[in-house]
Amino acid sequence: MGKILTFENVDAGYGRVQILHDLSFEVEEGEVYGVIGPNGCGKSTMFNALIGLIIPTKGKITFDGHDVTKVKSATRCHMGIGRTFQVPRPFEGMTVFENVLVAAVHGAGKSEKEGREVALEALKLTELYDKREILAGELTLLDRKRMEIARALGTQPKLLLLDEVAAGLTEAEVQDVMKMVADLKAAKYSIIWIEHVIQTMVQSTDHLMCMQEGHQLLIGDPVPVMNSKEVEEVYLGVEDEDE
Ligand SMILES: Nc1ncnc2c1ncn2[C@@H]1O[C@H](COP(=O)(O)OP(=O)(O)OP(=O)(O)O)[C@@H](O)[C@H]1O
Ligand SMILES: [Mg+2]
Repeated sequence: MGKILTFENVDAGYGRVQILHDLSFEVEEGEVYGVIGPNGCGKSTMFNALIGLIIPTKGKITFDGHDVTKVKSATRCHMGIGRTFQVPRPFEGMTVFENVLVAAVHGAGKSEKEGREVALEALKLTELYDKREILAGELTLLDRKRMEIARALGTQPKLLLLDEVAAGLTEAEVQDVMKMVADLKAAKYSIIWIEHVIQTMVQSTDHLMCMQEGHQLLIGDPVPVMNSKEVEEVYLGVEDEDE
């Protein structure tokens, strides 16, 4: 299988503040690619560059064979890049189904009829089908996370970006999220998953990148990366700063 995504020597940031420094990595089609790194190292910023919220000042982003470095956000969404946000922003007064339908109709540019089918499919994959008529504001945290993923799926992505979907969940709920990610992988989605919950990164990913200060510190198989001296030091360094 080929590459679904490559970042080559990307510099990017907010205004004059550069956050990503010469960031390079690549994701294979159909894999779950894990991303770890201390708070503020630029993981979510990498997603922002990937969906076109910010445009790199240097380097190249190739998605599905196309140079998307400067492509508009809406176009990238249509091309098949779908993300969840670290802080979910559901329409609380709308039902779960309506929330996902909005993503399908506006994000993926579907007609309402097509959008309904896509939305129902996304709700089945995230095990929210039976809760589709509940108001989004009434969901538990786990179900909000599920809905956030369903909304991303509503845009019919080839590449799904998960930003800390396991944060704040109980251990049993984390297991549910891991099962859902396994189901999504089986359904042939390529996935990049940012997470601080170590267990998810060791058990659910095919490759793992640890970022430090906007750059790839280490990339490889999950277990050796997680157990490496470099990764240990980067996290110890952060703990030292907190003291
Ligand atoms: N919209 C923004 N404008 C300016 N600076 C920002 C913006 N968003 C993030 N930053 C800064 O960019 C840096 C990287 O933030 P980012 O959110 O990418 O980190 P992260 O690795 O996702 O961290 P966390 O693990 O806490 O989610 C931080 O210093 C942050 O304060
Ligand atoms: Mg983040």
